[in-house]
Amino acid sequence: MIDTHCHILPGLDDGAKNEREAIEMATMALHDGIHGSIATPHINPGRFDNNLNSISASADTFANSLVRHQINFKLRYSSEVRLCPEIDYMLAAEQIPFLTEDRGQKRLLIEFSTTNYPHGALAKCRCLLDKGITPVIAHPERYRYFQRSRVDIAQFSRLGCEFQITASSLIGKFRQEAQSLARAMIVEKKATWFASDSHNLKSRAPNLSAAYEEAKRFTDQKTANQLFIDMPQKIFAMCPGIPFDTSISTICTQKAVTSDYFLGKNDED
Ligand SMILES: [Fe+2]
Repeated sequence: MIDTHCHILPGLDDGAKNEREAIEMATMALHDGIHGSIATPHINPGRFDNNLNSISASADTFANSLVRHQINFKLRYSSEVRLCPEIDYMLAAEQIPFLTEDRGQKRLLIEFSTTNYPHGALAKCRCLLDKGITPVIAHPERYRYFQRSRVDIAQFSRLGCEFQITASSLIGKFRQEAQSLARAMIVEKKATWFASDSHNLKSRAPNLSAAYEEAKRFTDQKTANQLFIDMPQKIFAMCPGIPFDTSISTICTQKAVTSDYFLGKNDED
């Protein structure tokens, strides 16, 4: 399986605290049947001041550390952007990593407040769609106002937004209301796909395999595969955030040493 939402890059947000924990999270993901992930650090101005530069640099470093630890784990990077006024400035400055990019069409992973209804969110999503950017609403089943009113979720759906559900919600690791809404969104064909949103090794583990098994209990195999396997693979293939190729970096370093040698830079006087 592929995971398209996790907080594995160390030290950027409330996910992995350091390289050691990030490596352990990758190992845990592999044990859960996940062979690659899109790292999606929070972009939440004032709380998590990340941007394309900081996220891509961190992904390069972590990709190198996976190679160093001989862990065969595919890594790409994107972001989980809090709906906020700063989105416009950051998009204009090309400082938000998209989830996918394909022939001018893009996807952006967006999160809302869990408790307070995001007034103006519909208009903001409409503006993004007009620009060729599909908002992917992260974990809608955990938002209290969506749990109370399915009408609101339908409005975002009609607009053309997509919905990424958290695997742990389906197996009851969040509130019971989140589990009910996750189930309902599968049955009503509102769920676009599932991801882990893993943050650490214990309270926010991936749980993708368990959720996949749970999904198969009340939907058909084809739908479960679409939500947990096919769609995540498609998203991963279209994710533009590919860390610097470590094998190329090694070759470049060797070339630099070679040229220095022929230029006589390393000669002793
Ligand atoms: Fe997240």
